[in-house]
Amino acid sequence: MTAASLFARTDRELWLLTAAAGDRRGGLIATFVSQASIVPDLPRVLVGLAKQHYTWELIEASGAFALHLLGEEHLDWVWRFGLRSGRDDDKLEGLPVIVGTTGSPILADALGWLECRVESRQDAGDRTVYLAEVMRGESARDGPPLTAQRLIQLAPPERLRELKEQMARDIAIDGAAIRAWRASHHE
Ligand SMILES: Cc1cc2nc3c(=O)[nH]c(=O)nc-3n(C[C@H](O)[C@H](O)[C@H](O)COP(=O)(O)O)c2cc1C
Repeated sequence: MTAASLFARTDRELWLLTAAAGDRRGGLIATFVSQASIVPDLPRVLVGLAKQHYTWELIEASGAFALHLLGEEHLDWVWRFGLRSGRDDDKLEGLPVIVGTTGSPILADALGWLECRVESRQDAGDRTVYLAEVMRGESARDGPPLTAQRLIQLAPPERLRELKEQMARDIAIDGAAIRAWRASHHE
């Protein structure tokens, strides 16, 4: 498929997205994160999250999240947050967390972070695309961001296998959701 082979030639930085609702908290790794405004005092982001993820439930409940830019030194966070669901245990346990003004968990050890509040949402079937206002943030440390291509170079074979298995599971779920969404929107 041409789209897949063209996207395979591009690269994206990795973000850790965290959210909390009441006493529940969690986070996931995301590459679907884009700057959505060039106005310096009105920063915005666009984020796409699949609806089967626990973190999606937390954003739906709270209307807020925090984004953290990762460096290569945060590889462990990719395995902690990006390979399993946070439904059964607290992925943030043992990490130094600050509670942001929106209630979102903030990890100050990241290269930098942005605290965001959802302004609008678009249901795309498999995922929800959120347009969010950046309330505040910090660029804490220098260093190159960890990217998806670099992650694959750095991943030990067992982790690479887990990444591929998870991706195959998500592709099946997302595919069914996109088809169902199209059927209900274009009949
Ligand atoms: C490199 C990488 C990029 C990812 N990008 C996204 C993304 O942009 N959107 C998304 O919904 N999930 C993405 N995921 C999947 C979630 O991070 C993963 O399924 C996570 O375990 C969900 O956790 P949760 O159920 O606790 O929210 C990505 C995973 C990896 C490893």
